[in-house]
Amino acid sequence: KEITFTFHNGIEIPNIGFGTWQIPNEEAYASVTTALENGYTHIDTALAYQNEQNVGKAIKDFSLAREDVFITSKLPAQIKGYEETLKAFDETITNLGMDYLDLYLIHAPWPWDEVGKDCTEGNIQSWKAMEQLYNEGKIRSIGVSNFSERDIQAILDTCTIVPMANQIPFYIGRDQESLLAYCKKHKIVVEAYSPLATGQILNSPAILEMAKKYSVTPAQLCIRYCLERETLPLPKSTNETRIIENSQLDFTISSEDLKILEKIEDVRTK
Ligand code: A2P
Repeated sequence: KEITFTFHNGIEIPNIGFGTWQIPNEEAYASVTTALENGYTHIDTALAYQNEQNVGKAIKDFSLAREDVFITSKLPAQIKGYEETLKAFDETITNLGMDYLDLYLIHAPWPWDEVGKDCTEGNIQSWKAMEQLYNEGKIRSIGVSNFSERDIQAILDTCTIVPMANQIPFYIGRDQESLLAYCKKHKIVVEAYSPLATGQILNSPAILEMAKKYSVTPAQLCIRYCLERETLPLPKSTNETRIIENSQLDFTISSEDLKILEKIEDVRTK
């Protein structure tokens, strides 16, 4: 069963993205090229990852038309405000060597060294700048990342465009149920980053057992689980075999087995 995602503005986003967090610029060219060679058409980066230059170069050098690749980047978490956002966007576009982005996200509601800080006004000003870039055709869709229901609600209460996506950590054991329901209600696509819990859940006995049952690898089970829960997975790997493996998801997890997987505890609480 193929699971597809379309934003509320009608833009389609390929149902698996290649994540590039923690892939250094020197390795990004090779990893992104490998991903493109193996059928990925959706690449996720951020100014903060410091690899946009080689991500952009790999995409440019590859034999695909720009419109056949979906590219996401993000406004750094510590940059808030209207002018600041326009400036950061220009930097991203210059790094990537592109004239438009498919998706631009506010990386987080607060700076990473002040997690939880109330930056509502700054986020609203950034969002207004993103709406302008969207209206000018420089970004095909706009969204947020690491936003809670309350953070999103502040945007809905004051702005014109409902975010098209919220990119959050999501993996077996971290189901984010109320946030998922909230996003669904507002037609916001949820993107799952760290679908493998950065590798920490791959040795879980319950996951190993279930993967065996479906004759897939634990990683494939984890990534397919995201799709089954209607979240768009962004697995990351720098290894060719695993990059290929992570995109081969042609199986379906039964609803009984989904229920079993839903009961698995979050690794972070252990
Ligand atoms: P590597 O780059 O060596 O493949 P997440 O996507 O949750 O952030 O997890 C990324 C981590 O999981 C990386 O350390 C990556 O290492 C590892 N990883 C990615 N794909 C697989 C896979 N198919 N099997 C095992 N480990 C994987």
